[in-house]
Amino acid sequence: MAEYLVSTQSHENALRVVPVSKETYTKYITEDVAEQYGFKGTYKQTFLLPQEQTLLVGVTHESQAKNADPFDTQNPYQLGAVVARTLGKGKVKTLEVTGVTEVLEEDEEQQREWLLRFLLGLHQAAWHYDAYLSEDKSPRKELAVSVGEVDRHLVTKEMSDKLYALNSGITLTRRIIDTPPEDMNPNSIQGEVYNELNDYSNVEIDIFSEEQLRNKGMNGILTVGRGSRWESTMIHATIKPRGEVKQKVCLVGKGITYDSGGLDIKYAGLMKGMKSDLGGAATMFGTTKALAELELEHTEIHWISPFVENMPSGSSYKSDDVIRTYSGQTVEIINTDAEGRIILSDALTYATLLDPDYIVDAATLTGSAMRSLTEYATGLMANDKELGMDAVRTFEEEKETTIYVPMLEVMRNSLKGTFSDIRSLAQDLNAGHMSAGLFLSHFVDQNLFRNEDLEIEEKKAYPWFHLDIAGSAMNEGKNDLMANGATGQSVRSLVEYIQKHDT
Ligand code: BES
Ligand code: MN
Ligand code: MN
Repeated sequence: MAEYLVSTQSHENALRVVPVSKETYTKYITEDVAEQYGFKGTYKQTFLLPQEQTLLVGVTHESQAKNADPFDTQNPYQLGAVVARTLGKGKVKTLEVTGVTEVLEEDEEQQREWLLRFLLGLHQAAWHYDAYLSEDKSPRKELAVSVGEVDRHLVTKEMSDKLYALNSGITLTRRIIDTPPEDMNPNSIQGEVYNELNDYSNVEIDIFSEEQLRNKGMNGILTVGRGSRWESTMIHATIKPRGEVKQKVCLVGKGITYDSGGLDIKYAGLMKGMKSDLGGAATMFGTTKALAELELEHTEIHWISPFVENMPSGSSYKSDDVIRTYSGQTVEIINTDAEGRIILSDALTYATLLDPDYIVDAATLTGSAMRSLTEYATGLMANDKELGMDAVRTFEEEKETTIYVPMLEVMRNSLKGTFSDIRSLAQDLNAGHMSAGLFLSHFVDQNLFRNEDLEIEEKKAYPWFHLDIAGSAMNEGKNDLMANGATGQSVRSLVEYIQKHDT
């Protein structure tokens, strides 16, 4: 299967793709030609030599001024995407990447990592959601990529397996988000989960029906879904490791298949794009797929996602309603458009009952995250600074733009309710992403739970970090892949973080 992404056999008539630095490009073109066309081997520059069937790709990254941006560095994933973009809709479908070992002054393992990410970016940028296009628009299906002789030792089985795993996971995340909301609804998602995960012998799938959610008392999920013609559902998939379980990780994702806002309906312009509101769930779905493919040694993975549609109707939930969440904490609804945190409260509570080592959630939670951190960045918040900082370092290594946002405790008071334990929106409307994070933190600390039916013997507060991906889940071409639509951002880092700690 992995052969399809990278072959070690040369294809005839392949276009050679050669990464070059500002020191090495003169091996391929003269100073005069370089001067004439302004090619300097700098980051993301490309230069096509048709006679030699060669495409040079510049790798030298030089910041113009001193800066403190850890993401403004050479990113092989983005460079791979540049190649796909340069080829565009042309006829060239056969590529041979060569010269990685010559241009990178790093050790073999780092060169291998570089090549893996370069190929991943190339394949991802060549993928496009084209289910509804009369014309085939996804050139990846025909793309045949090989690696030149000098670099061939970099392509090990482990490397190409990982390339395949990440590529499958990221494509899945993007496809789930890009699919129109009428087709990706709380009912159809169940078939997707079976199709994508059921073939792995290490995966178990549980799907909760509305009736089962009712029996458990998951009123957060049920309440938000009341206005939809679809029955809400919650997915729980478990991946068993190969060996003895030494660690358990819960991955929780917000799965609002469409966010109209509910009775507090969004303006038309703001509603467009809200098919991406299952982005958190799709991110964890893709991560789960990649991890199932990779087969961890000692880490058991639990993916938990509610899938709910937020719609206005005569049976919709309303602001002023007070609901008793699965945790037993009561929440007054301030605005029906702040629905993500309500469904996540039940999913997080459920996650704590599995007694994991830590919990991660991803959610397109707040417009505030996008406004304050840009549409490139994910906001990472945590109830455990060590864990949060450790995780953000992996996002930096993977160059998936992510900003650590401390959740200021002074804001917590603002969530206190008058008619309920907590309000769904803070009284203080500043930094909505932070108060949303604080809201979620109430559902990973069992000391705050009030539902006796949960029969928790020893209450614990669970280490947790939260990814607000409202900005980064999807945008119009201004991302690493320069593609419109879902980005698949965060899957790489999550897989890497979990794999790194799989001991
Ligand atoms: N799903 C949205 C957040 C969002 C906004 C994601 C833009 C992606 C792009 C969320 O459910 C929402 O509606 N948030 C509101 C909260 C408000 C009612 C307090 C927001 O952030 O505007
Ligand atoms: Mn909303
Ligand atoms: Mn939403």
